[in-house]
Amino acid sequence: MDKKKITIPQMKEMKQEGKKIKMVTAYDYLLASVIDKSPIETILVGDSLGMVVLGYDSTVSVTMDDMLHHVKPVVKGAPNTLVICDMPFGSYNVSISEAIANANRIMKEGGADAVKLEGGETVVETVRAIVNAGIPVMAHIGLTPQTVSQLGGFKVQGKDADAALKLLQDGQKLEEAGAFAIVIECVPAPVAKLLTEKLSIPVIGIGAGTDCDGQVLVAQDMLGMFDRFVPKFVKQYANLNGTIVDALQQYATEVDSGAFPGPEHSFGMKEEVLKKLY
Ligand code: KIV
Repeated sequence: MDKKKITIPQMKEMKQEGKKIKMVTAYDYLLASVIDKSPIETILVGDSLGMVVLGYDSTVSVTMDDMLHHVKPVVKGAPNTLVICDMPFGSYNVSISEAIANANRIMKEGGADAVKLEGGETVVETVRAIVNAGIPVMAHIGLTPQTVSQLGGFKVQGKDADAALKLLQDGQKLEEAGAFAIVIECVPAPVAKLLTEKLSIPVIGIGAGTDCDGQVLVAQDMLGMFDRFVPKFVKQYANLNGTIVDALQQYATEVDSGAFPGPEHSFGMKEEVLKKLY
């Protein structure tokens, strides 16, 4: 497939032309290189890696070192896909200068094309400062997993008019501060539609209905690899977990029976050499 890495201005053009932006997560070289062969334009190295690949209960414990460790192989594996890397909890809430320093690390050491961070009005000045430092920022509002305890759990956000209007206001402030796109997670579909219509930057939805400018899913959810829980907004396009368990079951059975390895997977030896061994 002839794929060329999309640019950030081209993402805005896609919105203007009504073309949908597709984004999935990746945390390693292998999956990134598979995604690079697909029409998905952007990869998110999400801090969801804390739950999906590190086995944590939330994203809060994820560190800068974790993110750097995972973004590097993704960048290597997907040269034709725009790579956006999450700033983990604690990397942008201490001071603006620390936030810029950590965003710099993600770009310089990690090789990402952009960073993403969570929050509305409270992070607007941080977003502005990182953008002014020359780093593209994707914002993330609605259900923000890093602050899930403040939100009272993994719940749909923006359900009443005040909360929905607050999301719109947050989106407008983040756009004004220079965010190039915004992820909106777990909100009623009409709220995401409102933001998509009112903002000039792309709105990428997850659990936010079909009217957004694009969609993002955790790849390990949509491929049916991660089975600890499946959020309502996830559609499983494959059952790789089941496929892998079946393959491992078959391998174990064949090892037990001696059916594997067969002659086609084994190395022989010349008869005269073999004779010398006995
Ligand atoms: O960390 C992540 O994977 C995310 C997506 C769910 C948007 O932030």
